[in-house]
Amino acid sequence: MEDQHHRQISYLRLSIIDRCNLRCFYCTPVQELVKLRHTDILRYEELLRLARVAVTVGIKKIRVTGGEPLIRSGVESFLEALGAIPGLEEICLTSNGVLLSEKAEALWRAGIRRLNISLDSLQPERFARITGGGRLADVLAGLRLATAIGFHPIKINCVVLRGVNDDEVLDFARLSLAYPWHIRFLEFMPIGHTRRHWEEYFLPMSQIQTRLRSLGPLQRLPSAANGGPAVRYRFADAPGEIGFISPVSRHFCERCNRLRLTADGRLRPCLFEDSEVAVKGPLRAGASDAALQALFRQAVLLKPSRHQLDHFSPSPCRRTMARIGG
Ligand code: GTP
Ligand code: 5AD
Ligand code: SF4
Repeated sequence: MEDQHHRQISYLRLSIIDRCNLRCFYCTPVQELVKLRHTDILRYEELLRLARVAVTVGIKKIRVTGGEPLIRSGVESFLEALGAIPGLEEICLTSNGVLLSEKAEALWRAGIRRLNISLDSLQPERFARITGGGRLADVLAGLRLATAIGFHPIKINCVVLRGVNDDEVLDFARLSLAYPWHIRFLEFMPIGHTRRHWEEYFLPMSQIQTRLRSLGPLQRLPSAANGGPAVRYRFADAPGEIGFISPVSRHFCERCNRLRLTADGRLRPCLFEDSEVAVKGPLRAGASDAALQALFRQAVLLKPSRHQLDHFSPSPCRRTMARIGG
């Protein structure tokens, strides 16, 4: 599928649940979210049908996200079924890692090889504070087990928040010297935040890069073939990598190749655009594959050339990150 800005759209982020087993303060709103009901969420067979249709219009890679995807029961069989879709070249998962040690073997059996794990602190108490009570030891145990099983690459996403965890940037970067992990620093995005709240925590990537210089020179690596947002580097002889994801200070929209499907069955053309295309209604009303293909094409045509984060007020989109899946 080509959009109006001559970009090929081949990557679908599939959110399978809006709930999460952590409550990261920057991701979850202060007031309790109105939870979606079970019937609001697409059933596995509905997700699989949409995934099959997506592949027929050119999707080659699917990343399964949440909320936290591993808390949805039956996720292992779902992933296995997803992996069996002919023409789908890659499936991968983004998770907070809390249930990873419990699920890693089953994920491997289901055919998953690539994992992205969110991790914002290496200090147990701080981790608990950021995540609203999460246990760092669970995530680290999951990472160790997944590494031993052979998952590769394992990418660690660290959202750098000024005054919260920015003093840990070097500790995170050092992990790439000891493990084959891709340590990725993410700029904080204003999704579901007021401008004031966002500005309080936002730290531009240039400042993170300056701090890393004390660990030695970074060698630039070629961009990933599937157009991921990270700019990649490696310290000399390191088994792992360093990645910078700078959606705010240096957006990568001109290379955007993605579409999102929310857990409640709406195609979202851009992370920051609320103009979604509803697919659940048509799907449940018996839409043909051709009609569903048309909805995918419609969503692709709605993709903006780039986000407009430079002038947002008070918040660029209605959904929280947990309701989009990153
Ligand atoms: P791979 O490159 O396949 O590893 O995937 P990814 O980096 O797209 O996936 P991941 O779920 O790890 O996302 C990491 C972060 O990148 C997200 O939380 C966002 O901060 C950012 N990101 C991913 N996709 C987009 C996008 O389309 N637009 C913007 N602005 N940021 C994105
Ligand atoms: N800005 C940047 N990244 C975010 N994530 C969640 N909220 C934000 C935000 N406002 C990250 C999660 C996860 C990824 C999918 O998105 O930490 O790593
Ligand atoms: Fe694509 Fe929108 Fe993300 Fe830019 S902000 S990379 S256009 S999804």
